[in-house]
Amino acid sequence: MSDGILTKMLPKDFIWGFATASFQIEGSTDVDGRGKSIWDDFSRTPGKTLDGRNGDVATDSYRLWKEDLDLLAQYGVKSYRFSIAWSRIIPLGGRNDPVNPKGIEFYSKLIDALLEKGIIPFVTLYHWDLPQSLHDRYGGWLNKEEIAKDFARYAQVCFEAFGDRVKHWLTMNEPWCISILGYGRGVFAPGRSSDRARSPEGDSSTEPWIVGRNVMLAHASAVKVYRESFKPTQKGQIGITLNGDWQMPWDDSPENIAAAQHALDVAIGWFADPIYLGHYPPYMREMLGSRLPEFTDEEIQLVKGSSDFYGMNTYTANMCRAGGDDEFQGLVDYTFTRPDGTQLGKQAHCAWLQDYPEGFRALLNYLWNRYHLPIYVTENGFAVKDEDTMPLEQALKDADRVHYFEGTTRVLLQAIHQDGVDVRAYFPWSLLDNFEWADGYVTRFGLTYVDYETQERFPKQSGNFLAKWFKEHQEGS
Ligand code: NOJ
Repeated sequence: MSDGILTKMLPKDFIWGFATASFQIEGSTDVDGRGKSIWDDFSRTPGKTLDGRNGDVATDSYRLWKEDLDLLAQYGVKSYRFSIAWSRIIPLGGRNDPVNPKGIEFYSKLIDALLEKGIIPFVTLYHWDLPQSLHDRYGGWLNKEEIAKDFARYAQVCFEAFGDRVKHWLTMNEPWCISILGYGRGVFAPGRSSDRARSPEGDSSTEPWIVGRNVMLAHASAVKVYRESFKPTQKGQIGITLNGDWQMPWDDSPENIAAAQHALDVAIGWFADPIYLGHYPPYMREMLGSRLPEFTDEEIQLVKGSSDFYGMNTYTANMCRAGGDDEFQGLVDYTFTRPDGTQLGKQAHCAWLQDYPEGFRALLNYLWNRYHLPIYVTENGFAVKDEDTMPLEQALKDADRVHYFEGTTRVLLQAIHQDGVDVRAYFPWSLLDNFEWADGYVTRFGLTYVDYETQERFPKQSGNFLAKWFKEHQEGS
């Protein structure tokens, strides 16, 4: 690079590592007292995953966790982002339900072993695996009062059990996906939707927005517990992680410029504005009218300022055109095709993802300028086309994924050194190929290839590329 950016180092204390989530890797869904999660039966239901496969085994990491840790050590990561399965800790989920000592023991051992290897645990409390019993008992995320209290209690149990050793907490992963994919499009558990071909019940015009507010309240309630009762002695950080890709106008017409902002408002501002600024984006009100669930004064006080940092999951960028009819995208049409007919970047296996690093840089700048908080990039990654069907040797030479990370790591340095964005962490997704939700095992995001017949792990070129890159760009290396 002629601008010399690649010779720049990452800031001192910059955290990097690889990420996973409980339901995507653990398997062993019925051992050691784990309660059912909403993904258990959903993923077992014919038609819900692309390949008809479920999370019963996944990458078998509940049993093979030591191997996973060896792999992390081999890559030389500074940190590991993983999630705790609520239904292993409190099998029935509720605040008056019993805690499962075996669940505590599992994550406690994992945390100890990470620390022994000098790896910082970066822990997500909720990565989509709601205890089934809470869904059955009172409608899960649809029930404001109950879910916030139950989540806060679950969080408290985790702070008590692990907070002496865990100093980095994420409450929720990607509330947009929880709300829209679970209660709007109905493609993720619990699969509610107005589309009766997909779901016997649900109302896509109201439920996602209700769930969104309830997720924010549950998150903020857990943060309150942490800040009041644990932070003074445990001295960790806590926040939420939001998904959101860069949205840019398709051309420079005023309506498409406005469309890009509307897309950002719904993809990101829906959650980030209440949490960091204390109110919904005005466009959310304009679009939804009375369907947008309000916060009481007391609730918004609770939500405002409830994250110590900006947790960012991002994968791609879209070009936006006004006139779409999908509220979940802000009534905006997305495209990867530029006006001149060219594509934004290399197409991934899944339709929603192309390789466009400039979007990553633009989004970092946008979030920094709008919310003024340090940014932790908690996910970023690429799924190579047809990796699921190609021979192992070919899959390991994942040039498209290496290209993707060459781009994102370069713009990461640019954002930090040239744009002055305060980025403090970067977690490529994912340590392993794993259960990719509605895609089953078809779409692979791993930096490590998993042979699902044998559960053998094989580092891909991209995993080795990142290990080397971070070694070279880390202070003290
Ligand atoms: C977002 C989610 O947090 C993660 O679970 C998923 O596997 C990746 N993106 C890739 O789609």
